[in-house]
Amino acid sequence: MKYPDISFEPFFTWVNRPRILYSPGIRGEVGFEMLQLGGTQALLFTDKGLVEAGVAEMVMEAVRKSDLKLAGVFDNVPQDARIDVINRGASFYRECKADCLIAVGGGSVMDTAKAVNIMIGGGHEDFQPLADQAGLWEGAQPLPPHIAFPTTAGTGCEVTNAMVVLDVKAKAKLSVTHPFCNADIAMLDPELTVKLPPKITAFTGMDALTHAIEGITSTGAEPVADALGLHAIRLIFKYLPLAVKEPANIDARGHMLLASTLAGMCFVNTLTGASHALAHALGAIYGVPHGLANAIMLPHVMAFNREERVERFRMIADAMGIEVGRMEAAEAAEAAVEAVRKLRTEIGLTQTLKDFGVPAEREALRPLVELAAVDGQIGYNPRYVEEEDIFNLYLEAH
Ligand SMILES: [Fe+2]
Repeated sequence: MKYPDISFEPFFTWVNRPRILYSPGIRGEVGFEMLQLGGTQALLFTDKGLVEAGVAEMVMEAVRKSDLKLAGVFDNVPQDARIDVINRGASFYRECKADCLIAVGGGSVMDTAKAVNIMIGGGHEDFQPLADQAGLWEGAQPLPPHIAFPTTAGTGCEVTNAMVVLDVKAKAKLSVTHPFCNADIAMLDPELTVKLPPKITAFTGMDALTHAIEGITSTGAEPVADALGLHAIRLIFKYLPLAVKEPANIDARGHMLLASTLAGMCFVNTLTGASHALAHALGAIYGVPHGLANAIMLPHVMAFNREERVERFRMIADAMGIEVGRMEAAEAAEAAVEAVRKLRTEIGLTQTLKDFGVPAEREALRPLVELAAVDGQIGYNPRYVEEEDIFNLYLEAH
């Protein structure tokens, strides 16, 4: 298709900090790269599942073969980056006398590591006031050396300068940003992702797709992000079904890792929209894993936004591989929504909100709706979202 007439805000910024190193087996360079950054004693953040699967060990072995010292391993990161766990992680970092950190994991691990690094860099004892502040930009300074290994292809956390933390007491997910919190180096090693079960491969891949689609259609959309997001969509439609069907396919895994990073670079500046806002509330109240919540909400939110960004959805349909040449923009946009539904089925994600005990009665839905309505991402949705719209989107996804 020819480039359509689309507009973007007359002013935008685009920033992305990490160096990205890609290669199967790139973990072998972790010691050299960390020493180059000035780190000597690394604390490794991961989770128990990755320890049991031997994935954390693959990176630890690489560290042991280098001149970098492993000061300790913090493997107590649960689902979601929780403020109490972040505080414990920072205490452990100090006890170990670490001077740099390595994150090996998905979004929860990488976001926990970012928050800990902010605490260490700024000498903080408690992350709660920082989480409440949300934007940590004033007087922000570079943080201790930090290398991230994503083990899922979904969150893009290795490149984003934001983290989502779970405030257990307030039962809310908070977005916190800091200009130096992302890793100095993102190491994309597809060999670390081959043990990821098909279900998690599927829904983390849908998170990456949501980043790309919401990034391209958000109120902050701009051409740099478009380029990154559209290529992420091309890769996801080609390689996500393959990565789900053939977990050991390094080529598919590698392309999915790249897609996730590209989608992360897309939305880091444009931010997202209603799918993420509604997904954050579902995660905070009903514990729905983030990628799965997005997989459930995305087609409904796309349909809701379709008319507001019809030419952008046409570009998205084109990137999905749909022959849009003879289609009207509205028809192509509708085809893009349908393609997401088809992809979701093809990769085995058939859940709806009912499966997570989310009620279908309006009164019982109210706390969820109220939380989504104040989520930091909702304001970037291309179509203004009323509370009534949020009710309807949740009911459609039931
Ligand atoms: Fe996400």
